[in-house]
Amino acid sequence: MKLERTVSGLRRELAGAPRPVALVPTMGALHEGHLTLIRRAREQGATVVVSIFVNPAQFGPREDLAAYPRDEERDARLAAEVGADLLFVPPAEEVYPPGFDSRVEVGGVSAELEGDPAHRGPEHFRGVATVVAKLFNMVGPDVALFGQKDAQQALVIRKLARDLDFGVRIEVVPTVRDRDGLALSTRNGYLTAAERERALALSRALRAAEALVEGGELETDRVLEAARAELEQAAVVPEYLELRSAADLSPAERVDGEVLMCVAARVGPARLIDNVILRAPAEPTLDTRPLTGAAT
Ligand code: PAF
Repeated sequence: MKLERTVSGLRRELAGAPRPVALVPTMGALHEGHLTLIRRAREQGATVVVSIFVNPAQFGPREDLAAYPRDEERDARLAAEVGADLLFVPPAEEVYPPGFDSRVEVGGVSAELEGDPAHRGPEHFRGVATVVAKLFNMVGPDVALFGQKDAQQALVIRKLARDLDFGVRIEVVPTVRDRDGLALSTRNGYLTAAERERALALSRALRAAEALVEGGELETDRVLEAARAELEQAAVVPEYLELRSAADLSPAERVDGEVLMCVAARVGPARLIDNVILRAPAEPTLDTRPLTGAAT
């Protein structure tokens, strides 16, 4: 696996590289969720590029930019083990050189949930869209892979790629969970054992909602109530717990088609998010086959 820190080096390396090129953008501190993305990229790409960049533009002033874990040596070893060909680790000045003051703003889905000023605010997805647009321009990937854990981010990036004609296919890979259900996240590392136990309420809440919908309950109030009860039991106060259209994040009146249940909550020092896609059970179809062997 090669390591590049400059855009010119990266482009030189990729000039004759076999296609398709698959890109996995990350902020490092790789865990099994990232490694799953890289393995999936390996299945599809002739060349697999992994980027590591803790993007200051997507962190708010009161967020954990300084505390965000960084361990390039470990990340490089893990990325190589699962088949990355090229690791791109640019310093901040390479991505945001002096004088840089452009921003990419994706409309619609960016303004909801995490993008609401009551939560992370509009700067968050502006920062994500800007860095991802730059990475797409730097790498020119055929496919780029993102995790479903950041469901809203995946929608923003799909729209970014479509609206700005990046010509890259966006693949969203299912959330990887620990055996007890906790969605893998770098921020889980901030939790004590007791906080981690409380954090399990998030995935329990989503599972409770899922079970209810599987049983045929389609009223949003009841589904939300079941999830809220799990959070309350663990004294977890959600920043939001919502049912939204999985396609565009518009509020879901009922569980109809694919509905995203998403939750954000602070547990100890960590702000955690998780989600599940709820699907109403299929209507029983009318069996129109002729009866055979019927008594006459
Ligand atoms: O999901 C992340 O790790 C980041 O938001 C991303 C996509 C690498 C952009 O900085």
